[in-house]
Amino acid sequence: MSEKMWGGRFAAATDSLVEAFTASIQVDSRLCAEDIRGSQAHARMLGKVGVLTASEAEAIVAGLDQVRQEIAENRLPFVDSLEDIHMHVESRLTEIIGDVGKKLHTGRSRNDQVATDLRLYTRSCLDDLLVSLRHLQTVFVDLAEREVETILPGLTHMQVAQPVSFGHHCMAYVEMFQRDAQRLQDARKRVNVLPLGAAALAGTTFPIDRWDVARQLGFEAVAENSLDAVSDRDFVMEVLADLTMIAVHLSRLAEELILWMSAPFGFIDLPDSFCTGSSIMPQKKNPDVAEIIRGKSGRVVGDLVAMLVLMKGQPLTYNRDNQEDKETFFDALDQVRTSVEIMGRMLPGLKTRPQVMRAQAERGYATATDLADYLVRKGLPFRDAHAVVGKAVRCAQERDIGLEAMPLDDLQALSPLIDQDVYQVLTLEGSLAARNHLGGTAPEQVRAAIVRARARLAQESSA
Ligand code: ARG
Repeated sequence: MSEKMWGGRFAAATDSLVEAFTASIQVDSRLCAEDIRGSQAHARMLGKVGVLTASEAEAIVAGLDQVRQEIAENRLPFVDSLEDIHMHVESRLTEIIGDVGKKLHTGRSRNDQVATDLRLYTRSCLDDLLVSLRHLQTVFVDLAEREVETILPGLTHMQVAQPVSFGHHCMAYVEMFQRDAQRLQDARKRVNVLPLGAAALAGTTFPIDRWDVARQLGFEAVAENSLDAVSDRDFVMEVLADLTMIAVHLSRLAEELILWMSAPFGFIDLPDSFCTGSSIMPQKKNPDVAEIIRGKSGRVVGDLVAMLVLMKGQPLTYNRDNQEDKETFFDALDQVRTSVEIMGRMLPGLKTRPQVMRAQAERGYATATDLADYLVRKGLPFRDAHAVVGKAVRCAQERDIGLEAMPLDDLQALSPLIDQDVYQVLTLEGSLAARNHLGGTAPEQVRAAIVRARARLAQESSA
């Protein structure tokens, strides 16, 4: 005979290997607060519509408070025989309050229950992650402000292209994380929908009030179709895709930090408290935090792929496959949240080496485009100006000097349009200041972008 809550029609006990294999308690125990909250809302609603008496509903709600307390104090042992968090809570409730506890599951199923729990949990993770993302954006805005005047050789194809403000570079990440935050906010609307009431798949015969439950739990909508409500995991896939994008952004950032801290670049230094040493090479200071963050991104991409593949073969409605949704999802939520937080703690301690960046920008003929633009302003078509400057660069390269060190005579031999005023154009500062339009790297524009970003962040954190 089976002792299971569902054991009525079973003549034999579950194989011990099967019991361990099918149990999910080690993973879904983290849903305990949401599970209890959802059960309390369900019980209150059953009380209001008269399926339970008021005193039964009250006893259940109070008993669930006690279960919550016991779990918080690690006093409830988790066992595979009780499968998952839902069974643990219900069985402990019944131990505490007696047979009334057995009425809690009236008009619902674990299928709509687990979907409800997971949505509640996801919603609160999104809210936490949004706070962490906003903080990271603020860190970048602060860094941008500190480094507006610092000149970084901007790269395309990993080759020196044009000089940019280091602050401008920081603000690029503010934009990336802004889109990430918007995606999470948008996903939140689709997360925040109540599945409870769908029961196993078809709804229930009891006169439930789903809007009452939704209001109690802060859901903005009630799932319209019971079959969809129990089987849908779009919200998990969607949030995972959004998390993946954040992880990819963090990985790109980590890659830049790693390159910039390496000796051949030497652009920055990261704080000792966020680096580690080598067990054999005494001189080493490694950017391990950035490397691990870059590494985590692969894991998060894997979590998304696992979830997509988990869903692709599933017919309506609930299938036990769905139990596998949590481990990867929780992993991605954990990894991304930690990565965002640790990046936000590390970056305020980043130190730039402006002289090194400057030297690299100068060596790389970063103001060549400025010279071409100068010739255009003097009347030469851009394509011809491009050719003239190309020759000038070749000439300077042969002598191993920068464009700004070329004598005026030699420049004039390449184009009679060139005059003494060219040297102003060839400075790094002149190059930056000249890109003075919305989105450009001129320090004036970067400062304006910082003001706009601060206003946006203030508005969002008060919303
Ligand atoms: N532990 C299950 C899950 O995570 C709960 C739902 C189980 N439902 C069922 N009919 N066996 O999906």
